[in-house]
Amino acid sequence: MTKTTVRVGQVGAGFIGQMHSLAFNNAGFSQRQPSIAANLVALADRSVEAREAAASRYGWSATYGDWTDVLKQDLGLFINAGPNDLHFDPTIGAAQAGIPVFCEKPLASSAGVAHELWKAVAATGVEHRCAFMHRFIPAVQYARELIASGELGEIRHFRSRFLMDMVGPDGEITWRFDRGRSGAGAIGDLGSHHIDLARFLVGEVTEVSALTQTWTVDPSNRITDVNDDSFIAIGRLANGATASFEASRVAAAHALSGEFEIDGTKGSISWKMERLNELVIRRPGGGPSTQMVTRSGDPLEGFWLPGGVQGSHPVGWNECFAHQAHDMLALAAGTSTGSVAATFEDGYRVAEIVDTIEEAAHERKMLPVVFKS
Ligand SMILES: NC(=O)c1ccc[n+]([C@@H]2O[C@H](COP(=O)([O-])OP(=O)(O)OC[C@H]3O[C@@H](n4cnc5c(N)ncnc54)[C@H](O)[C@@H]3O)[C@@H](O)[C@H]2O)c1
Repeated sequence: MTKTTVRVGQVGAGFIGQMHSLAFNNAGFSQRQPSIAANLVALADRSVEAREAAASRYGWSATYGDWTDVLKQDLGLFINAGPNDLHFDPTIGAAQAGIPVFCEKPLASSAGVAHELWKAVAATGVEHRCAFMHRFIPAVQYARELIASGELGEIRHFRSRFLMDMVGPDGEITWRFDRGRSGAGAIGDLGSHHIDLARFLVGEVTEVSALTQTWTVDPSNRITDVNDDSFIAIGRLANGATASFEASRVAAAHALSGEFEIDGTKGSISWKMERLNELVIRRPGGGPSTQMVTRSGDPLEGFWLPGGVQGSHPVGWNECFAHQAHDMLALAAGTSTGSVAATFEDGYRVAEIVDTIEEAAHERKMLPVVFKS
């Protein structure tokens, strides 16, 4: 059995840079044919400690302090796992060198920058995907199948909640809280995942209204313009369904709680990150029933091990990142048979919705989301 190998370069060896290092390694163990693996060629991070630790743990062949050195290598894929204000230049540089690009979410710190990034990358003709990883959770893909097949009838409501605690133990905060570096706070960091989910599962967001709140102050006084700690938005989707999105990064008791519910005329579904293999399904006249999305024939079943007489087993966040990595490797190698990943156009559209939510909260109005082509 021959295995195609893609030479990968990456910027960022922080939290998510480590996750991608792990996931792109793991993707090579998928049972999917044609078999495809990542060769982790070059990693850049300005922190010597971070890049050396990642290289020794995950097997990166070479490390650099400057991302431009990564782009000088012979690469088949570039991963941008840097902070939001580092998404633009390295990603465009890679695409203009003819390298397919995979960029973290949010695509940029504002809709204007995201639009410019999408257009510049699209003009090069390379494959481009944005890391909305929920699309690679088997239960989420199953939810999408149920909706697309009409099993739930016409969709009337989407609602979601994403709660975390992102303030350090002594109140210290990171670049994510800095409007100048990150753009929006909880809306862009957490809400963007669920905004993309609403679009992926039901349809485009057409209008929004919102409340935002900020409590956090930087104890060191270095970050003076702290972005939103939490938001609640209501909106409408293209099919007329109502939508609600709530997220907070200061919900102290929540390590990570993410959930969505969707109601249709024939059925309802609900899902929680903490029980990510399960989809709860309700039908009129009946109570909730829990469906484990691990059965033979379910989305991504057999990805790791053959399903069947030995049963099918649950997956976790780590494996879902590897599903995403495998999808990107196949796109980069030209062996993809269909990708559900978000493109940079999706990344731009989510950024436009994020900015409109901020503006609506500021103006205390319901605002239409106006997308640029
Ligand atoms: N898809 C997800 O579920 C998910 C989860 C977490 C973070 N993210 C996204 O991933 C991105 C990174 O977040 P993170 O949590 O890993 O941040 P982080 O702060 O943990 O890591 C960022 C890394 O980038 C490095 N860096 C910063 N500026 C640099 C520069 N100019 N050159 C080279 N290296 C530089 C830092 O040294 C750090 O190691 C963000 O866009 C974030 O929104 C996505």
